[in-house]
Amino acid sequence: MACGTSWHAALIGKHLIESFCRIPVEVEYASEFRYRDPVIDSNDVVIAISQSGETADTLAAVELAKSRGAFIYGICNAIGSSIPRATHTGSYIHVGPEIGVASTKAFTGQVTVLTMLALTLAKEKKTMDEGQYLAIVKELGHIPDKMKEVLKLNDRIAELSKIFTYAHNFIYLGRGYSYPVALEGALKLKEISYIHAEGYPAAEMKHGPIALIEKGTTVIGTITDPALVDKSVSNLKEVITRGAKVLVVTNRDVRASDIDTLIRVPETHPLLAPAVSILPYQLLSYYIAKQNGLDVDKPRNLAKSVTVE
Ligand code: M6R
Repeated sequence: MACGTSWHAALIGKHLIESFCRIPVEVEYASEFRYRDPVIDSNDVVIAISQSGETADTLAAVELAKSRGAFIYGICNAIGSSIPRATHTGSYIHVGPEIGVASTKAFTGQVTVLTMLALTLAKEKKTMDEGQYLAIVKELGHIPDKMKEVLKLNDRIAELSKIFTYAHNFIYLGRGYSYPVALEGALKLKEISYIHAEGYPAAEMKHGPIALIEKGTTVIGTITDPALVDKSVSNLKEVITRGAKVLVVTNRDVRASDIDTLIRVPETHPLLAPAVSILPYQLLSYYIAKQNGLDVDKPRNLAKSVTVE
C-alpha cells in the first residue's frame, strides 16, 4: 500500500510478484485502506511503499495492518523516517534525498527494489528456474545504462515539449505494466505543469473516455510488452481516427503510419521496462513546465511530504 507515485510503483510490484512468484497481490491506496474494515490477518504480508516515510495515510495504514497481525515490509527512501520505524523489516531504496516535490528517482528506485524483492522471493519459492533468474538479474544490471541512453534524448524531448506547451488535455494510455507508467506519466504532467492529464488502461477507452477525443487531443501511448504491441496499436488507431495527436514511447518495432511522434527507448526484459519507459515522460513534464515558466521543484498546492490527512 502507498499513495501517489509510490502507489504507481506498487502496481508494477504487483505485476512483478504475481508473475515471478505466483503470489496474489492487492494494491491499496493507504487512504482508503485505513478507513474500511480490511480483511487482513497474520497470514498476510503488507508492503508499505513511501519515499518520505512520513506520509500520514501510509503510516496509519501500516499501524492498522500491524494491529491485525500482518507482517509489514517497508520500502522507503528517507532513512530513519516514521514508516521504516513502524515496519517489521524492509529495504531502503537509497536513491539519495529527493528535493523536488515530483517523485522521479524515487519511482525508479522503488520499482528496482520491488524487482529485487520479487526475484529474491521467486528464488526462495523456486517459482523461477535458475537460468531465467540469472538472466533477469543480469538484465537488471543493464538498466542504468539503458536509462542513460534515454537521457541522451533530452534535447529532442525539450524540443518536442514546445509543441505541447499550449495543450489543455493529455490522455496517457498503456496496457499491462505500461498502465502504471501511463498513470505516473499523467501524474507528473499534472503536478508540475498544471495541465489536465489522465492515465487509462488503453482498452478501457472504448468504455467511456474515448468520448473525450476530438481533433488535436493529445494521446500518449506506452508500448513495451511484445505480447501487447498489436493490441495497443489497435487501441491507438481508435483515437487516431477520431483526430488525436499521438506520441508513442516504445522499445518495439511499432508500425503505424499515423503516429505523430515515436520515441524509441532501449529494449529490455518486459517486466523491467517501466524504469526505462517512464523517463521520457518525466523529461516531457519537466520541459513543458519550464516552457510555461513554472517552478518544477515547488509546484503549487503540494508538499514533498504529506504528513497530514
Ligand atoms: O513520500 P511518499 O512516497 O509516501 O509520497 C506519496 C505521494 O504523496 C507522492 O508520491 C506524490 O504523489 C508525489 N508528489 C508524486 O510525484
